[in-house]
Amino acid sequence: MRPVKITAVLLTLVLNSCSENKPAPATPSAAESRSATQRDVHSYAEPDKAVVQHVSLDLVPDFDARKLTGTANLTIKRSPGASAIVLDTRDLSIKQVKDASGAALMFNTGAAKEFLGAPLTITLPASGDTVVVEYETSPGAAAVQWLSPQQTAGKKMPFLFTQGEAILTRTWVPTQDSPGIRQTYDAAIHVPAGMRAVMSADHVLPEGEKDSSGRPVFRFKMDKPIPPYLIALAVGDIGFKAIGKNTGVYAEPSVVQRAADEFGEVDQMIAAAEKLYGTYRWGRYDILVLPPSFPFGGMENPTLTFATPTVLAGDRSLVNLVAHELAHSWSGNLVTNATWDDFWLNEGFTTYIESRIMDELRGKPYADMLRQIGQQDMRAAAEDLKGAKAADTRLHLDLTGRDPDEGMTDIAYEKGANFLETVESVVGRERLDSFLRDYFDHFAFQPMTSARMLDYMKEKLFQPGEAERAKVQAWVFEPGIPDNVPSIKSAALGAVDLQVDSWKGGAAASTLATSKWSTLEWMHFLRALPETIPEARLAELDKAFKLTSSGNSEILFLWLKTAIHNRYQPAFASLERFLTSQGRRKFVAPLYADLAKTEWGRPLAISIYKRARPTYHSVATGTIDQTLKWNEVK
Ligand code: BES
Ligand code: ZN
Repeated sequence: MRPVKITAVLLTLVLNSCSENKPAPATPSAAESRSATQRDVHSYAEPDKAVVQHVSLDLVPDFDARKLTGTANLTIKRSPGASAIVLDTRDLSIKQVKDASGAALMFNTGAAKEFLGAPLTITLPASGDTVVVEYETSPGAAAVQWLSPQQTAGKKMPFLFTQGEAILTRTWVPTQDSPGIRQTYDAAIHVPAGMRAVMSADHVLPEGEKDSSGRPVFRFKMDKPIPPYLIALAVGDIGFKAIGKNTGVYAEPSVVQRAADEFGEVDQMIAAAEKLYGTYRWGRYDILVLPPSFPFGGMENPTLTFATPTVLAGDRSLVNLVAHELAHSWSGNLVTNATWDDFWLNEGFTTYIESRIMDELRGKPYADMLRQIGQQDMRAAAEDLKGAKAADTRLHLDLTGRDPDEGMTDIAYEKGANFLETVESVVGRERLDSFLRDYFDHFAFQPMTSARMLDYMKEKLFQPGEAERAKVQAWVFEPGIPDNVPSIKSAALGAVDLQVDSWKGGAAASTLATSKWSTLEWMHFLRALPETIPEARLAELDKAFKLTSSGNSEILFLWLKTAIHNRYQPAFASLERFLTSQGRRKFVAPLYADLAKTEWGRPLAISIYKRARPTYHSVATGTIDQTLKWNEVK
């Protein structure tokens, strides 16, 4: 029998211990358990009483009403004496809740709070471990974007996709939406004729089944326990092309070939990652290229990375994004931040691994460029947050009372990666790699906190004095950037600096030695230009390097920032096109913000945003609405 009083963490660990063919990990020591979990302030769940173990979805998307309708059949594990389970919901309309035999169960939806949504408390059946929630999403569900045919490449069929991270899954699935509560899932998605559904799970074959209304049904199964933010769905006119045996791309038919060409190195990336950090445990690795409103560069949905089409540069120059999302198959998806306060454990580890994969693929000079640019981003983020916001320059955050989105800065990514670079500089690459391999294996399919990770590092990695030399405590729990960060000097970027100097000294743009530059060198060049540049010199750069018409989204983005900064009007048509043709938050939000900083730019920002806003995902509009004080504009 299970002891009556069981801590949340132990329950989660016991319930979710790996069901893989690998042996279950050794029971964590008492010290490990104590530091394994902290309360998740972004979930209403009370996992020490009852936890969701499995979610079974049966959903019908209605593209006219912009709703998903159906049922979530939840398998629950309760501790003795528990009489109710609390789920997270936001903007869901709950129609009925039943037990496995179809008998109605009492339920109550509490008051909704901003971004957290509302707790759904369900009285558990006297016996059995099943509750069936019959529900429907709202057209404004924050996770779901419904695209009109006009917003797709094909222009013929509508499209929908979901984005769960950080706490948006509750807007389309009634479950315990906490990254520390892992769940397996399966789904049946009933789609209009001619469409395909894809999810972050194994596809149940063969496809081609029809339901009683004649609609195609697509079935999925994720038999490994995952945090709910990784449940993901897309439906539309979606084609597929294989790359390798277990890899391929999904995209709208007219984009499939371009995507397959761009991501042709994915098998090499997997091989590199496996060599470094152990077996890829998720079966297939496919990439779904979404329509341009996808708000992120990429999202690490298991078995199926979601990606922006702005990464299709045509020359494979932005595929470090795939290395990044793939790296999450270890850091994030296998070992997961227990709460959003430890988001850096997902993104910092992943950014470090991304550079290691690219190091294997493209060599050290390339990876050093990535690292140096990352280090600049780290310093810029620390600078940006100094003063009143300095607490957010800590890796371990306190997001109580705040939208977790606020904690998702470059600090998590770049300070997080630099923490591991620093540890590497103390213990050496070989020892760090072997530690990481063991860490991912030992904690596979478990939540992780900063304290637990550091305990394990101290136990398994550091020799006496090394933890102090690495200053791990300061790195993780204190603001700012510790002074032992290894300085990264990329020779290639050094050469770019010389060209910048010579241009600043008056040399004509056309005489600069740029012919061998890759995208990263161009990015560094654009970032190193002076703040203020006379129009004639901007025109000269533009003429020499065709920046305004660049097809590379990262280069165009930096050039458009420069153009805004200097009110360089010849680039404004391109700026408007960029803002209205894609909705990646990293690109659109800063451009609106920069425009809005100036008296002349604010009206332009607002007039473009008025048109573009209906085409963006809620993740993007959430940020830009704040920047532009959209409430006051409307
Ligand atoms: N997991 C993130 C995306 C994310 C972050 C979703 C925060 C929700 C909240 C993903 O892995 C990511 O970091 N994407 C980057 C890619 C880049 C760092 C290569 C992006 O979207 O730009
Ligand atoms: Zn990431």
